[in-house]
Amino acid sequence: MACILLTGGAGYIGSHTFVALAEAGHDVVILDDFSNSDPGVVARMGRVAGREPTVVRGSVLDEALLGRVFAEHRIDGIIHFAALKAVGESVERPLDYFSTNIGGLMTLMRAARAAGVWRLVFSSTATVYGDPGDRAVPETAPRSHTNPYAFTKLTCEQMLEQAAAAEPWCVGVLRYFNPVGAHPSGLIGEDPRGLPNNLMPYVAKVAIGALPELQVFGDDYATPDGTGMRDYVHVVDLARAHVASVEALLDGRAHTLNIGTGRANSVLELVEAYGRAAGRALPYRVVGRRAGDVAITYADPSRARAELGFEATLDLDAMCRDSWRWMRAQASGFRLNDPE
Ligand code: UD1
Repeated sequence: MACILLTGGAGYIGSHTFVALAEAGHDVVILDDFSNSDPGVVARMGRVAGREPTVVRGSVLDEALLGRVFAEHRIDGIIHFAALKAVGESVERPLDYFSTNIGGLMTLMRAARAAGVWRLVFSSTATVYGDPGDRAVPETAPRSHTNPYAFTKLTCEQMLEQAAAAEPWCVGVLRYFNPVGAHPSGLIGEDPRGLPNNLMPYVAKVAIGALPELQVFGDDYATPDGTGMRDYVHVVDLARAHVASVEALLDGRAHTLNIGTGRANSVLELVEAYGRAAGRALPYRVVGRRAGDVAITYADPSRARAELGFEATLDLDAMCRDSWRWMRAQASGFRLNDPE
């Protein structure tokens, strides 16, 4: 059993990772400023895991606070989720992204180094591959960036590489493909503020009746049905990958890994699957392409299997079913024991 610091642990991926760590018998300390999460999630995380996490409210930019967290808890490893992640917003407010994402990692590493904590899992993204083309993309593919958000993630990866060359860091870089879905309990899930940027949360809001229809961004891509194809990975699988990653670091095994299923689904396939889960066909309209989108991206997941023994097991139907359960549980104010 280890004690893991989760920055951004009240967020979408962080909350699921807390549950997976608790199930694996680890202690967790969460640092979150609740800038993009609801404080009510902490009690629901506790209901799912059978015990509430220790939560420190604050920012990864607050080095004094980080110092106190490391002084008060015997942290064995860190999983660093706290960051900004909206591509469009990053184009409008790049400095915020430099500060929170790059400055946040740097501040965290300085505080961790002062406390002698050298194991860190970094939340990265398949966006660092730019447009890898129609092939299962391996970790060795060239990296590039086309917006400030992607720039910050790539820069953070490079900072970690250079720091690890000079100091005893043991780093796990996880490049997520498209995380979707929710915990099967219906108690935790993704809760974007305002209009969702990403496909599944948008479709979920259409299904629950909060938005009238989905806009499909282009049906003239070189894919079988013409819509964009992505490697959607269930957030519960992704959470398990984090447990395996931090446990590998505790064992001294650094790694850089894709986390995906190795399969690609189109926008229309996802809309149909969500319609099956929700029990009705969902309205959509094809509009023009979104700037910066690529036709297809999917992982070569073989290195994660070889190095962590990790394999994603949940399919698109499970992702839609669990997202839909979460949407209905939220709509009912979490009063139903079984929102089925
Ligand atoms: C996006 C980000 C990526 C980020 C990831 C986080 C962009 C260009 N990329 O990836 O940097 O790491 O989210 O999960 O924003 N789509 C629609 N209608 C919609 C929304 C999306 O048709 O309302 C389509 C898109 O064109 C794409 C697919 O759905 O083909 C998936 O889109 P999205 O969920 O936004 O993910 P990515 O673009 O892959």
